[in-house]
Amino acid sequence: MVGSFEQACCSGIFLKRADGTVELAKRFAANSASVQAVPPAVLQAAAQRAVNSGVIVGVGHDEQIAILDYDPEEVHQPQDRSATFQALGVPLISHDAIMGALVMSAVLNEQPFAMPDLNLLAAFARQMAAFIENARLYKVVQEREVRLAELVRQLVSAQEGERQRIARELHDETGQKLTALAMGLAAIEARLGSDDLAGAKQLVHDLRDLSNQAIAELRNVMSDLRPALLDDLGLAPALRSYVQQYAARYPEMHVTLSADRPSQRLLPEYETVLFRVAQEALTNVARHAHATEISVLLTHLPDLARLEVSDNGIGFDPLAPDRSVAGSGLGLVGMQERVTLVGGTCRIESAPGAGTRVVVELPVIPDA
Ligand SMILES: Nc1ncnc2c1ncn2[C@@H]1O[C@H](COP(=O)(O)OP(=O)(O)O)[C@@H](O)[C@H]1O
Ligand SMILES: [Mg+2]
Repeated sequence: MVGSFEQACCSGIFLKRADGTVELAKRFAANSASVQAVPPAVLQAAAQRAVNSGVIVGVGHDEQIAILDYDPEEVHQPQDRSATFQALGVPLISHDAIMGALVMSAVLNEQPFAMPDLNLLAAFARQMAAFIENARLYKVVQEREVRLAELVRQLVSAQEGERQRIARELHDETGQKLTALAMGLAAIEARLGSDDLAGAKQLVHDLRDLSNQAIAELRNVMSDLRPALLDDLGLAPALRSYVQQYAARYPEMHVTLSADRPSQRLLPEYETVLFRVAQEALTNVARHAHATEISVLLTHLPDLARLEVSDNGIGFDPLAPDRSVAGSGLGLVGMQERVTLVGGTCRIESAPGAGTRVVVELPVIPDA
């Protein structure tokens, strides 16, 4: 029996493709070039049959393929000790999935395989299947790690960009106004000694306007950072206020909002997730969609909170969003990551010319 392994040649590992056919992944070298071996096509056929049937397949001396009713997942007692084979195809099975087949063939006219070999081969195939599965899982984990690293990199740079934007806004708008305010106050101070009271009064009036503008701008910046309504009154009022501002900013679009109030407020982090998704989805509509109609729908079911943002714009292929602009594509990815982190689902339904719909569902955890 062992002799047959030593003389095994033309053996290989075949892996199953997505379409179910097998391809040679690794061929073991023949131990002598001159030996006559089972033709490769027969080995390939044996591998295919092993993959299709999930049991060990034997190739007889006549190159006929026989399905041996031998389940490699179980330990067998050899029954027919006289049956011998020129080659064997053993399915590689891990966690009930057939990944391919190990094919071993003996040199023609030498001692062929016999039934007792099957147990050993089956055990070997089990180990190999586990090894292949681990290698695949490792690859998946590695790829995910690369994607995560890229996401973190983009998030950090987006955060920096956001900080720059806020700093610029504060400097250019609010900072300028505060400077003007200080200069105005100095001018009033200079006039206080004179009797130009009317001039000083006008200045005070102007400066009050200026300070009100600065306050309004600061409010905008703060509400961009964290809408106070979200903490104070909850998601629906915060959404309503955001949609109002949005509609005022983009008068060319018609926005409708329908938001019901929950019997009980969602957890703060859930409210934040839904609010940020709405914000990103609406920003995307304004930036990319060329839409005329937008609808925002917030529904609270007993066990589910559902947010839907749809537009009648140009749409896009969600599987291949436009990444030609550097840093683009983070919005949708970030949205999905955020929702997934709190155990929800995020669907982006869109097609070129067919508008876009973003649907987020978060499970509502009942308060104990
Ligand atoms: N509502 C929408 N209508 C049309 N295209 C959209 C819409 N939302 C997203 N897209 C497309 O998907 C891409 C990725 O969006 P996103 O991840 O938010 O990145 P960004 O907005 O920074 O470009 C956008 O560049 C755009 O091409
Ligand atoms: Mg975006």
